[in-house]
Formats: sequence, C-alpha cells, structure tokens
Amino acid sequence: MEKNIQKHPSVIIRKNFQHENNVVIYKNVRIGKNVSLANNVTIYPNTIIGDNVSVSDNVVLGRPPKAGPRTIRKITKHLQPLVIGSNVVIGTSAIIYRGTTIGDNSYIADCVHIREECKISNNVVLGKYVSIEQKVIIGEFVKIMGCSQIAEWTEIGKEVFIGADVSSCTDTSFGRIKEVNKKITIKEQAMIGSNASLAPGITVGKNAIVALGAVVLKDVPDEKVVLGNPAKIVWNVNKKLLKKKMTK
Ligand SMILES: CC(C)(COP(=O)(O)OP(=O)(O)OC[C@H]1O[C@@H](n2cnc3c(N)ncnc32)[C@H](O)[C@@H]1OP(=O)(O)O)[C@@H](O)C(=O)NCCC(=O)NCCS
Repeated sequence: MEKNIQKHPSVIIRKNFQHENNVVIYKNVRIGKNVSLANNVTIYPNTIIGDNVSVSDNVVLGRPPKAGPRTIRKITKHLQPLVIGSNVVIGTSAIIYRGTTIGDNSYIADCVHIREECKISNNVVLGKYVSIEQKVIIGEFVKIMGCSQIAEWTEIGKEVFIGADVSSCTDTSFGRIKEVNKKITIKEQAMIGSNASLAPGITVGKNAIVALGAVVLKDVPDEKVVLGNPAKIVWNVNKKLLKKKMTK
C-alpha cells in the first residue's frame, strides 16, 4: 500500500526516513537520518529535527501560536524555528510550538504540550499529559511525571524531580487579566512531591524536598523539607530522604 505524504520541495531529509499515512511537512523543514514519522504527523515550516527521532501518531511540531479573540497576552511574532535534538522519542498527540528547543535523548510522552520559546535540555523526561507553558527553562536530567502543569517563566535546574499532578502558577491575577508574571525557580536536585502547588514568585532551593500535597507560598531554603498547607519547614534533608530521590 502506497503511504501518503505531502512535503514541500524545499524539505531536506537524510537517509533511512520512514513514514506512515497523512504526513504533512511544510517548507524548509530539515530532518536528520533514521527518523520515523507515524500517521497524521504535521511539521510546520523551518522545523529542524535531529537524527534517530521517533514521532508517534497525531503529533504537531513547530506549531505557530495563535491568539484567541479575547487574548490579552502578547504573542511573540517572528519566533525561531522549533529545534529537536537527536535520539528523541515523541509520544502520540504531543504538540510542540515554534521557538522551542528540545535537547538530545529526551522523552516526550503521549499528549504532552510544550508552548513557544521553551528551552528543554538534554536527557529530560516529560510524562504523559505534562503541560509546559511559554518560556520555561528545564535543565538536564529533569524528570516531570504525568499531568503536571509548569507555568510560564518557570526555571527548573538540573536533575530536579517533579511528581505527578504538580501545579505551578506564575500568574498573579485570575484568568490572565494582566500580564504580570512572577517567575518560579526550582533549583538543582530539588524534589517536588505529587499534587504539590507552587505559588507565583517562589524559589525551591537546591536539594530541597516539597512533600506531596504541599501548598508552597514562600521560598523553600536549600536542603529543607516542607509539607502541609501552607507549607512549613519540618526537617533537614537527611540520608534516609536522599535514598528516596531519583538518581540519573
Ligand atoms: C515528605 C516525604 C518525603 C516524607 O517521607 P518520610 O520521611 O518517609 O516521612 P514519614 O512517612 O516517616 O512521615 C513522617 C511524618 O510526616 C507526616 N507526613 C509525611 N508526608 C506528609 C505530607 N506529604 N503531608 C503532610 N504530612 C506528611 C507523616 O504523617 C508523619 O507524621 P507523624 O510523625 O505525626 O506520624 C514523603 O511523605 C513525600 O511527600 N514523598 C513524595 C513522594 C512523591 O510525591 N513521589 C512522586 C511520585 S510521582
């Protein structure tokens, strides 16, 4: 059976390319070697894809952002192309916007959404349904579990672990009525337990632990454990707690 692909003549594809049906590739896209695209994949103009990348069904790459009729936030025009590194696996129905970079050896699970102007380093894992808003920076070896929501401007240091259903908020108003964001910083090797909520402007220190379900309204110092609502410092991070943490 002939497999259907529509690609602009300017597209450059290196060897061992495989694709399934209904693949659409717009102009000036560059694709490395050993890349496979499953059914219904759409790749917007200028996107750059490295070697050994596997893309599952219904994925959209390099999507340009569009303002809704009542959007207040400014949408950046003239974004850089989406750049995807090598050895990246992208799950079904993932959407990655223009202006973002994805590092080598990263795993983007099913239904992940990554908005424009994010910088995702090498060796990052994003679990199913994770949502990464605009201008988020994620360091190497970060792991974010399913359904977590990372608000715009958040900066996550290397080797941070974020559990499932974590919610972060950098918007200081309700419903983005003003464009006032207070950046959240999560420093290297911190661990955020599942279902924790992070308030606008807070910093979680290096190697700190936020317990599951904690509501963090104030900065968490380095090497401290916080829990509860509102989160309070309860312990120092000790050897027993370090054993619970991810190693890369
Ligand atoms: C904070 C944490 C690391 C503490 O683990 P621990 O040292 O084994 O703590 P313990 O289970 O011995 O509990 C010690 C005390 O803290 C309380 N406590 C533990 N976690 C708590 C939490 N999240 N919220 C409120 N109280 C908590 C316990 O009830 C216990 O209280 P008690 O002494 O009055 O009985 C752990 O509870 C946690 O939140 N882990 C995160 C796990 C996670 O989300 N993983 C990601 C999966 S995707």
